[in-house]
Amino acid sequence: MKLTVCIGSSCHLKGSRQIVEEFQTLIEENHIEDKIELTGTFCLGECQDDVSVKIDDEIFNLAPANARSFFEKEILSRLK
Ligand code: FES
Repeated sequence: MKLTVCIGSSCHLKGSRQIVEEFQTLIEENHIEDKIELTGTFCLGECQDDVSVKIDDEIFNLAPANARSFFEKEILSRLK
């Protein structure tokens, strides 16, 4: 699964770095390093929303505070 976090300037200001770090921790905690490819991308054109995150080709918007619940709900569930 490809997990992409927008690191464009608008998302950066909203905390995309924190989300990347949280995802890295969660990937390690769950031992799914071989199942997830975590990368960054430039602006996805959704700057008006929270930080843009892509799972494969689907775009979501989330705040750093929701990174963990998003990960559990959207990512772990898809790996099962
Ligand atoms: S900077 Fe992230 S969507 Fe524009």
